[in-house]
Amino acid sequence: MTIRQCTEGDIEAVAQLCARACSDDALIGHLMHPHRKEYPDDFVQYFYSRISRNLHDSARCHIVTVESKETQEIITGYADWLRCDDGLEGPLRVSANAGQERLQNRAANPAFADVIERAESYTKHYWTGSRARTWLLDFLMVDPCHQRKGFGRQLVNFGLELAKRDGTCASVIASETGYLLYVSCGFKPVGWMQEGEGNPLRDLPGGQILFNEDTGRRISPKRPIWYLQLLWTFLHQWLSTVVVVTAVIVST
Ligand SMILES: CC(C)(COP(=O)(O)OP(=O)(O)OC[C@H]1O[C@@H](n2cnc3c(N)ncnc32)[C@H](O)[C@@H]1OP(=O)(O)O)[C@@H](O)C(=O)NCCC(=O)NCCS
Repeated sequence: MTIRQCTEGDIEAVAQLCARACSDDALIGHLMHPHRKEYPDDFVQYFYSRISRNLHDSARCHIVTVESKETQEIITGYADWLRCDDGLEGPLRVSANAGQERLQNRAANPAFADVIERAESYTKHYWTGSRARTWLLDFLMVDPCHQRKGFGRQLVNFGLELAKRDGTCASVIASETGYLLYVSCGFKPVGWMQEGEGNPLRDLPGGQILFNEDTGRRISPKRPIWYLQLLWTFLHQWLSTVVVVTAVIVST
C-alpha cells in the first residue's frame, strides 16, 4: 500500500472515484445531487471542480492511496485534510463553494447547493477554544471496489500524524459509513451536524462531529514517573507530619 500526494494529473481519476464512492452518500449524493444518475458527468464535474480549486490551497493536504498492477498505478482512495487555525467558518465555506459551475450542474438540486454553508452556522461552536486549531478531514473517499482493505484507515492515520506534528487535534464530520472507521482510529463523538432549530440537515442520517484530541498532547514516557515522584514526596511529608503531631499529642 502506497500513499502519496495528489497531483494535477490525478484529478480526473480522483473525481471519478469520488462520484462512485458518493453515489449512495446521504449528503453529497442523495440530498445535493438527486439527479446524479441522469447526469453522471455533471456529478463527476462537481468533484473535479472542487478538487482542482482546493488542490493548491496551502492549508490543505491532498493525498491518495495507490496500488500498482504491473506497470499501472491505480488510485484506490483520496483524502483532503484541511488545517484550520481559527475555527471552521471560513475554510468550510470556501470548500463547499468550490464549484461556481453549480448553476450548470444538472445533477444537483439548486435548493441544497449551499446546504453545507447553512448548516455550518449551527455547529461552528464545536470548533472553538482548544479545538479552534485543528486538522479537519474535509473529504475522504475510497473506491467502492477497494473498500474494507485498510485504505480509509491509512488516509485517516496520515492526517492524525499531521495533527500530532502540529500539536493540534484532528476533527471530522462523519458519514454513516465513516463513523465506525473514525471511532476505531481514536475519534470521539462530541455532537451532530444536524443540531439546532431550522438546521437544513436535520433529517440526514450520519453527521456525527468527532474529535481526536490525543494527537497533539501525548504525555512523554518520563512524565508519569516525575508526577509519581512528586506525589510520593508530598504524601511522605504529609504522613511524617501526621506521625509527629500524633506523637506530640499522645505524649502530652
Ligand atoms: C468510509 C470509507 C472511507 C471507509 O474506507 P475503507 O477503506 O473501506 O475503510 P477501511 O478498510 O480502512 O476500514 C477500517 C475500519 O472502518 C470500519 N468500517 C469501514 N467501512 C465500514 C462499513 N461499510 N461498515 C462497517 N464498518 C466499516 C471497520 O471497523 C473497518 O475495519 P475492519 O475492516 O477491520 O472491520 C469508505 O467506505 C467510503 O469511501 N465511503 C463512501 C464515502 C464516505 O462515506 N466517506 C466518509 C466521509 S466522512
